[in-house]
This record gives sequence, C-alpha cells and structure tokens, in this order.
Amino acid sequence: MTAHQFDVLIIGSGAAGLTAAINLADRFKVAVLAKGALSDGSTAWAQGGIAAVLEPGDTFDSHIEDTIIAGAGLNNRKTVEFVVENAPAAIERLAALGVPFNPGETERWHLTREGGHSHRRIVHVNDATGWAVQQALEKAANDHPNITLIPDMVAIDLITGRHGEVYSAMPNVHGVYAVSRKTGRVSSYIARATILSTGGAGRTYLYSTAPRGATGDGIAMAWRAGARVSNMEFNQFHPTCLYNLQVKNFLITEAVRGEGGHLKIPTTGERFMPRFDPRAELAPRDVVARAMDHEIKRLGLDFVHLDISHKPPEFVREHFPNIHAKLLELGIDITREPIPVVPAQHYTCGGVLTDLDARTDLPGLYAAGEVAQSGLHGANRLASNSLLECFVFGAAAARHITAHWDELPAPPAIRPWDESRVSDSDEEVVVQQCWREIRQFMWNFVGIVRTTKRLERAKHRIDLLRQEVADYYGHFRVAPDLIELRNLVEVADLIVRSALLRKESRGLHYTLDYPNLLPEAKDTILVP
Ligand code: FAD
Ligand code: SIN
Repeated sequence: MTAHQFDVLIIGSGAAGLTAAINLADRFKVAVLAKGALSDGSTAWAQGGIAAVLEPGDTFDSHIEDTIIAGAGLNNRKTVEFVVENAPAAIERLAALGVPFNPGETERWHLTREGGHSHRRIVHVNDATGWAVQQALEKAANDHPNITLIPDMVAIDLITGRHGEVYSAMPNVHGVYAVSRKTGRVSSYIARATILSTGGAGRTYLYSTAPRGATGDGIAMAWRAGARVSNMEFNQFHPTCLYNLQVKNFLITEAVRGEGGHLKIPTTGERFMPRFDPRAELAPRDVVARAMDHEIKRLGLDFVHLDISHKPPEFVREHFPNIHAKLLELGIDITREPIPVVPAQHYTCGGVLTDLDARTDLPGLYAAGEVAQSGLHGANRLASNSLLECFVFGAAAARHITAHWDELPAPPAIRPWDESRVSDSDEEVVVQQCWREIRQFMWNFVGIVRTTKRLERAKHRIDLLRQEVADYYGHFRVAPDLIELRNLVEVADLIVRSALLRKESRGLHYTLDYPNLLPEAKDTILVP
C-alpha cells in the first residue's frame, strides 16, 4: 500500500474544499481528493446564486433575521452573524478570482430574489452560478504549485490513533484511507490536518436534485471516527424539481419564483400558494414544498405547474438562459407554457457538528460546507445561504489551521490497509438492490410529512440492511459503490434516529404525531 504525505488533506473539491485549499496553499502542501471528476459535486450544479448584503437599503440585521425565520429559530445566532457579516468579502474574493457575476443596471451587480429573503440580495451568473464558481475555484487551485488535485480517489475511512503502527486511543485524525477508481488500490493520505468538505447526503432519497455522489460519506466517516453529528432530521425538499420521466433531477431555480413565476394546479390553472401563505410563492421552501405535497395528494396529481409565461419572452430568456434551453430540448418552451414540477430532496441541513473555526470534536479534523452542521441553517436553510457557508467556513478552517499549526501533532506511523481477509465481490446485484431499497423507503417513510409509525418502519428496515451491508463489507474488497452504500445506511440511520427524537414539528421536520412547535428550540445531537 502506498502512503502519501501532505501538510493538509482536503476531502472534496467543491466550493468548501477548494476555498480552504486556496487559502492554505501559500504556506502548506495541500492535497484535495475528489471521488469522481473535480466538478462532480453539488457546487457545479448550483443555479440561483449566493446571498449577501450588497445594496443600500439592505442590512446585515435583515439577512440575519430572514435566516433565523427560515430556520424556525433553531439557528445559532452567533454563526448566522458570522456568516452574514463575512458574506460581502466572500463575494469580493470570488469576483477577484474571475467569477463573472451579472452586472446590475444601477448597482455593480444584479441581485435576484428568492423565497424567505425580504430583500433582493442574491448575486448570480445567469441561472448557472455554481458552474462559474466551480470553474474559477478549480482554475485558482490548478494554478497553485502547492495544491495537488486528486480526482477519482474515494475516501473510505478517517485515520485515527487506532490505525497507528502503535495503537493509540487518542481521537486525533491523521488523514484518510482511500481507494482509486482507476486501479482499485487503497492508499493512505496522511496529514496533520484534515478537512471534510464532502457535501450532503441527498442520494439517501429516491428523488433528489443532488448529484449521484451526494451519499453523505463525510458525515458517516466522521461519525464512525467518533465525532458528534447534529440535526440530521432536517432534509430540505426543494419545491421545484422538473417532473420528467427521462430527466429525473433537473432543478428549476427558485429565482423563477423570485422573478414572478406562479405555482398552479394543472387541471384548473388555479394559483394555489396564496391559500397557504401570505408570502405565496416566496414563502420559505418548507412551506411551499408542504403546500405542493398537500395539493398533489389531495387532487391525485403527478405534478403541479410552475408558470412564468406571463412575463415577456425576452425577460425569461435573459434571466434563465440555461433552463430555457434545457427545457426546449425536452419540448417545453417556458416563454409560452408552464413547467411540470414536484418537490425533491435538495439539501442536508444537519451534519458533523462544528464551531466557528470549522473544528469538529476530533483534534485535527475540520468540516466545512454541506457536510457540516455549523449552526447557520437551523431547521431549514434559507435559499442561497449554502454556497456562502462553504466560502466562509472553508476560509475559517484555513485560518484556524494556519494560526494553530504548531499545536497540531505530527502524524504517527500508520498501518497499511488490510485486505488479507477479503475477496472480490461476486454479487454486485446485492449492492444495487440495497441502494434502491434505502432510497425508496426513505422517500416513502421519512419524507416531507412524517409519522412516528413510518419512522419506526424505516428504522426497522435500516437495522436489517445495516447487518447485511456490514456482512458484505467484511467479506469483499472495497469498491466505490459498496463504500457509498455503507455510508448511505449510516446516514439514513442518523436521519431516522434524529427524526424519532424530535417530538415537535419545526421547519423541515413535520410529523402528524407532534404537529406543534415546542417553546424551546433545541438541536438534536447524536453522540457516537
Ligand atoms: P460539493 O460541492 O457537493 O462537493 C463535494 C465534494 O466531495 C466533491 O468533490 C466530491 O467528489 C467529494 N467527495 C464526497 N465524498 C467523497 C469521498 N468519499 N471521497 C472523496 N471525495 C468525496 N446553494 C446555494 O447557496 N445557491 C444555489 O443557487 C444553489 N443551487 C443548488 C442547485 C442544486 C441543483 C443543488 C443540488 C444544490 C444547490 N445549492 C445551492 C446547494 C449548494 O450547491 C451545495 O450546498 C454546495 O455546493 C455544497 O458544496 P460543498 O463544497 O459542501 O460540496
Ligand atoms: C435555487 O436556485 O433554487 C437553489 C438555491 C439554493 O438551493 O439555495
């Protein structure tokens, strides 16, 4: 087995990981692992934009209040203030890296609006902001001689004291074991500090806007290594995922509603959101997704309509060029006809518990971006706050590592990965079947509306699958699909256990058995 040594190891090449790398590389040798291509994470898929107070008339207080209202009061106010106040500088850094934010007519940048924001404050690059950001960050990382980018390298488990040549019960993290997609060989990547920036766990659900790799690997690895995870019951369902039998996870950005799009009942053309909330289509996502779920179930529909065809065609084409082009390919002209949409899982609000320096419970381990529960989002993320979180906490982790470098112990000698008792898998079908099963019952039993009975049913299935997967994992050589399946089971378990612990309905966790809000907002914290 090969051992690779760096100063800092970053697992994940999206907004959080690359931000951290760029901020560390002037002083340290940094490796960035990605389990597929560098641009395969959610970052490159982001559409709407990035929230920041950038215009006269808008205030930090207003962005903070909007974030806490969307988060149903569960947010950590200090974290919210930290992120919101650091947002304008984060946008400036991106602009300096070459992100071509759309210019405004009177102000420097055009700001769009999204649900839950009481002001226009979303900078964007047309309707494909994430792609522009990912390209700019990749270019900066590629250009830096101290950054080694390693795609197609799938992290398996964190290396801690118990993996040392000399066993230690110390919880310090010293890097990760990872398997190459190309060779199938396992290597160790060893470093003084490790940053998890592995993104979310959307693929725990049957329908998700997230890319194929969003399997919660970082959350599962940190949990297995002994870090606490928090608020896993809060899975955000985006109201408007395209309903199309061929294209299963194409998002229609919330900015379509921000720029005047209406949600309608397909059979009658009725605009239904005003019946549910005075903010209508611009209510926070949990409210809109629940209203849609209600109407779809009540009327036995497959989808509802999102309609922006009442706006001038040039306005629609100019604001949403990618969505317009993509839907034209599918035979829908959004300047003339409505878009069939359904809610789909979109964002993992919970994750590895972190502080304002992006530190986890484990010395030497940091977490930034969607993998983390930093206290920013509370019970429901405000639109366009998540890319922002990646930039702010990617930089915060880098700052803390730089300032405390001398306190981080040098890694000990690490044992090689042991494959002496495993053979090649002969039952790929088992892995595929288990994947499908988890995603299906999570969708059916742990979705937008929950009950204790449904959660218990899900838990029962997870317990059975967990045994099967552990047995499989113990006998066969590790492969990317198996690693992801093992993590999916772990994360599904964390979601269901957290949901069972919450005896109220708050934000994204809505249960018919406890429909009310408890007076005190408390995080769910699971301790390994
Ligand atoms: P990601 O960008 O998801 O990157 C994860 C990285 O981790 C990848 O490089 C992956 O390869 C790597 N990785 C994962 N597991 C492993 C492993 N085991 N080994 C090695 N590498 C691993 N947010 C906004 O603020 N504004 C928006 O407009 C917006 N639009 C969105 C649209 C869509 C369709 C989606 C899905 C999300 C959107 N979001 C948006 C959310 C936002 O994009 C994500 O929260 C954010 O990009 C997450 O960034 P990240 O750096 O944490 O992870
Ligand atoms: C969108 O464009 O609707 C996604 C924005 C987000 O997830 O923050």
